[in-house]
Amino acid sequence: TNGVITIDPGYKNTGSCESAVTFLDGEKGILRYRGYAIEELAEKADFLETAYALIFGNLPTKVELEKFHSDIKSHSLVDDDVRKILEAFPKTAHPMGVLSSLTSALTAFNPSSVDINSREEMYSAIVRILAKFPVLVGWTMRKKKGLHLNYGKNSLGYVENIMYMMFKQPNEDFEVNPIIKNALDKLLILHADHEQNCSTSTVRIVGSSHAGLFASLSAGISALWGPLHGGANQAVLEMLEAIKEDGGDTKKYMAKAKDKNDPFRLMGFGHRVYKNFDPRAKIIKKAADEVLNDLGVNDPILEIAKGLEQEALSDPYFVDRKLYPNVDFYSGIIYRAMGIPTDMFTVMFALGRLPGWIAQWKEMRLRKEPIGRPRQIYTGENYREFVDLEKR
Ligand code: SDX
Repeated sequence: TNGVITIDPGYKNTGSCESAVTFLDGEKGILRYRGYAIEELAEKADFLETAYALIFGNLPTKVELEKFHSDIKSHSLVDDDVRKILEAFPKTAHPMGVLSSLTSALTAFNPSSVDINSREEMYSAIVRILAKFPVLVGWTMRKKKGLHLNYGKNSLGYVENIMYMMFKQPNEDFEVNPIIKNALDKLLILHADHEQNCSTSTVRIVGSSHAGLFASLSAGISALWGPLHGGANQAVLEMLEAIKEDGGDTKKYMAKAKDKNDPFRLMGFGHRVYKNFDPRAKIIKKAADEVLNDLGVNDPILEIAKGLEQEALSDPYFVDRKLYPNVDFYSGIIYRAMGIPTDMFTVMFALGRLPGWIAQWKEMRLRKEPIGRPRQIYTGENYREFVDLEKR
């Protein structure tokens, strides 16, 4: 501090806003969306209901939910020129880069998503993105797999339709697997919001310049991409695969994670706020067991993950630093069992986080928050004369 400005790297001790959307208690491992506990939402609600509650403040009545879903369905077509933009990407493009670009491109095809000044305009932009984003997710995955693209089917439920766009093959009928549908509902609910995390803070600060909803979401997707944030779920599977290739030698990776000279971290462990356990990880770990059992998948990766967790929970380095499995540690194991490619895991995180980003952006705009513009403490050169090129 210089007496006027206090520097707080990573904003570890800085609050950026007041919010009524999500409550979490890092010590007690509590997470609630609009006061509803995630444990109850994961058990009793579906993803669209949860999205409605986050965005509009209360769980919807049957009539409200049906109207919400039909409004979303009326915008489920994505302009064919967006598909042409997708075709232009190389197969090697990372899905998060594709998704962020296509989401930003939607702004060009939906100019009304920029200048949003009334609740009606806000509602219109919200149902549009909730309708079109799952199409982009499905297209991104199908492109990655070299498969033809699916458009949505309005006769299906919201999550069923997501599965349709991701998995429907042209030569087969589409059957909703209830085990996968329930697991996907649960995973998306558990990822739906998490107060002022890195990507949500990005959505808020970009939105604070009134850049528009889709542009703010595109920025949030880029922030989520990083391996320290949402990219961790992909990094966890890559780490577990490496350990498996290495003969399952978890001790070697534990040593690497503790070695100060080694940048390697145990991906899927640790959290800025949760210092005892991540309540989402507990639910997801249980779901991973159930899904793999129900699908009859015997994935050695799951056993390695459990072994790693056991070792870390009894290792002083991790216990002293309060490093426990977070939301990303087990989620990838379920996505893998569903046949989702590893580099699509963070796209699934973005799909889950979409309602939370929307809810937080909406709150920021309705509260007319000022444009985000932090200060700094200058540590550079004092004034010095300009020197002509010949004399340098
Ligand atoms: C998400 O914020 C959110 O809410 C995010 C999220 C959401 O829903 O939006 O919950 C989703 O991003 C979950 C986190 C996913 N990331 C990872 O799993 C990557 C691995 N974890 C870390 O990089 C780390 O734990 C963070 C980024 C999650 C938190 O970092 P902090 O709070 O800035 O903590 P830090 O980097 O200052 O670490 C504190 C100490 C350090 O050791 P010392 O310097 O004190 O000796 O703990 C060590 C770190 O080296 N440490 C780890 C570690 N995480 C922290 N050591 C080994 N392995 C790890 N995973």
